[in-house]
Amino acid sequence: MPPALRLALNGLLVSSLVLALAVVVGPGTTVARQDASIVVALCVLFAATYAAGFAGPARPAGARRREDRAESVDMGGQNLGRAVRWLGAMTVVWVCLMAFHAGFSWLAFPLIVLYVQLLPLRLAIPAVTVATAIVVAAKGVQTGTLDIPHVAGPVMGALASTLMVFGYRSVHRERQARHALIGELVVARYALAESQREAGRLAERQRLAREIHDTVAQGLSSVIMLLRAAAAALPPDASVARERTAAATEVATANLAECRHFVCELSPPPLVETPLPEALRRLVDRSADDRLSTAFHLHGDLYPLGAECDVALLRLTQEALANVRGHAHAAHCVVSLSYLDDRVTLDVFDDGKGFDPQLPRQDARGGFGLHGMRQRIEELGGALTVESAMGEGTAVAASLPMPQGGTS
Ligand SMILES: Nc1ncnc2c1ncn2[C@@H]1O[C@H](COP(=O)(O)OP(=O)(O)OP(=O)(O)O)[C@@H](O)[C@H]1O
Ligand SMILES: [Mg+2]
Repeated sequence: MPPALRLALNGLLVSSLVLALAVVVGPGTTVARQDASIVVALCVLFAATYAAGFAGPARPAGARRREDRAESVDMGGQNLGRAVRWLGAMTVVWVCLMAFHAGFSWLAFPLIVLYVQLLPLRLAIPAVTVATAIVVAAKGVQTGTLDIPHVAGPVMGALASTLMVFGYRSVHRERQARHALIGELVVARYALAESQREAGRLAERQRLAREIHDTVAQGLSSVIMLLRAAAAALPPDASVARERTAAATEVATANLAECRHFVCELSPPPLVETPLPEALRRLVDRSADDRLSTAFHLHGDLYPLGAECDVALLRLTQEALANVRGHAHAAHCVVSLSYLDDRVTLDVFDDGKGFDPQLPRQDARGGFGLHGMRQRIEELGGALTVESAMGEGTAVAASLPMPQGGTS
């Protein structure tokens, strides 16, 4: 039972008992002296029975709170049996007191409160009705009449007690529901904050992984390729030079493997003071060699894309060119940057051996390039397509929406 209701009930019961006792055995009473001592004994028994209902082994506050909740909404099983026995005993003592004097009608009110609070409706309604009927009957016997005021008083009292308990119970339930809701909200807020932190951490790790891949790893790949080409071009008797290039290749290969595992922040130096088309043109020019001819085309009127889009397109071009040089065996490669009305597109074509884009490589040794490109472009609301077939070259096409705020 909720503590506030228990306190109110204690007060109601003690005051009703004292009042009734004063009326019944006080000065000017009609009760015989011998009966008076029985009445006092019954009052003591009634109070003791009432107190016994609250007695029990001390329980932790949390357990008590849980029990209170269970009591007010579910009076099934053991709790119901205990409540029925307790209320039955008090009712019997009360009926005995009523047999002596109708002044004990006062006690009907705390009893009715207990019926409504502790019993399910199917038992509480008959119990309230019987208690009210006993009070009405006792009044009738005492006064010898049964007119409307004699009936209406107890009935109104019973009704008021019942409604009061229902009102209190609904307020109490609402309070508990609110507390439970607040608890759930607090838990949900922590869970949300935690998942946002986790998502941020993962996004940052991915970003750093991409940066390492697109910068240090690509640089080291080029170094290794150049060293291998240098070793192949050495004259047969240059054994010392061959040994040193082999050692350098080994170190670069080891560093390439290691740098894939490192996380570090890198800024995109080519874009610091250079517009994107210019940075791309230089990159494309630098990628040409005696086996690969490259070209860069710019279409449309330039508008600012924002640093994130600039970096994404630069990195994409770097990776696409590295793939052309590393995998395509192409003779020609064309990079086109187009500023359209609503988006900007970047296309990298090569006439190399092509591959099956449905089977991207993604293992411990690499294969992060295409995946990283797509991820970076999609994060900015764009799309990436890779079209290729064996022997038919490759076309990598990225499209980014024009940043909000227009072309100004
Ligand atoms: N232009 C291309 N021509 C031919 N094959 C390509 C081309 N681009 C990509 N590929 C194929 O797709 C695979 C996946 O490319 P991706 O860039 O994802 O990984 P990678 O280049 O192998 O490794 P990493 O980029 O991580 O160093 C490559 O291994 C290659 O087989
Ligand atoms: Mg690659």
